[in-house]
Amino acid sequence: MVERTLCIVKPDAVAKQSTGAILAQVEQSGLRLIACRMLHLSKTDAGRFYAVHRERPFYGELTDFMSSGPIVVCVLEGEGAIGKWRDLMGATDPAKAAEGSIRKQFGTNVERNATHGSDAPETARWEIGFFFGEQELRTE
Ligand code: RTP
Ligand code: MG
Repeated sequence: MVERTLCIVKPDAVAKQSTGAILAQVEQSGLRLIACRMLHLSKTDAGRFYAVHRERPFYGELTDFMSSGPIVVCVLEGEGAIGKWRDLMGATDPAKAAEGSIRKQFGTNVERNATHGSDAPETARWEIGFFFGEQELRTE
């Protein structure tokens, strides 16, 4: 099934000038970039985006980190895009991520792990709508 998923290049990777290298690997994997934008989240908006983790002990640090600098948000499209992008990213903790995965190559630790990917069709729809309007998602 052709799916859409949200990809975020997080503040650590943008600061390290790894955005281009990461998006090149996304494109080489066959996933298609259909929308892309750079922005700087406020702490409040980072909190809204990661609201599912509100009760987790790392919520405060995570939202500080995600609002610490510019991010690049992209929508990826392709066959099984949600799972494909998560496979390409690797495990949440770069130390445990597979060799060659994005987080292994570009991540620093379990928090500063270079990228985000949606985890299910429902969350993908919500996350894409958080950042993009209908016009930006038009592919023809
Ligand atoms: P993401 O949502 O960013 O794609 O990452 P994920 O599904 O692999 O991991 P998730 O459990 O959803 O966690 C979201 C983000 O929170 C930070 N985190 N910090 N300090 C910690 O133990 C910890 N655990 C997670 C990471 O930035 C993680 O990507
Ligand atoms: Mg997640």
